[in-house]
Amino acid sequence: MTKASFSLLNEAPADRDAIDILHAETFGPGRFARTAFRLREGVPPIAELGLVARIDGRPVGSVRFTAISIGATPALLLGPLAVLPAHKNVGIGRALVRHGLDAAKGRAEAAVLLVGDLPYYSPLGFFRAPAGSITLPGPVDPARILVAPLHEGALEGLEGKVRSG
Ligand SMILES: CC(C)(COP(=O)(O)OP(=O)(O)OC[C@H]1O[C@@H](n2cnc3c(N)ncnc32)[C@H](O)[C@@H]1OP(=O)(O)O)[C@@H](O)C(=O)NCCC(=O)NCCS
Repeated sequence: MTKASFSLLNEAPADRDAIDILHAETFGPGRFARTAFRLREGVPPIAELGLVARIDGRPVGSVRFTAISIGATPALLLGPLAVLPAHKNVGIGRALVRHGLDAAKGRAEAAVLLVGDLPYYSPLGFFRAPAGSITLPGPVDPARILVAPLHEGALEGLEGKVRSG
């Protein structure tokens, strides 16, 4: 499969069931216990930032962003990012993150935070948050707290507790 064979479109309300299934398939039942999930609980994702990757019209990947604050700084939580196992490793995940970040750069929030693997997200512009600088409301490996600036200098002094909204 080539990179040209998928398209990225804004998430539409009609995609919701397909994305629920995608999350169940990629993260399994343990997803509800994740700290990032808890931060998103009861907070709708930002509709205009949601992206869906499609192949022949069928959703195969998705990324969402939710409003958070880091200390007093408005920010975005990236996730869930999910790609159906049958369509992994053709660049869909990276394309979703890149396009999502580009769209987020037009907004007022300072940075994007996620909980994930640095080797995957580093080429996409994410950095490990300095140890102890950012804390989440639940258990998380501190080495997996990653941030990307949306504006020049936005990571300087970025610290504090992460909260929804
Ligand atoms: C992680 C995920 C979104 C990647 O999507 P994808 O479309 O397969 O990713 P891409 O095709 O853009 O990138 C694939 C590359 O990233 C690498 N990669 C995938 N997951 C990685 C990880 N956790 N750490 C480091 N590298 C990783 C692959 O080995 C591949 O490397 P290559 O290009 O050298 O072959 C997808 O595998 C998925 O949905 N996983 C389950 C849910 C999940 O873990 N989501 C992320 C939560 S933070």
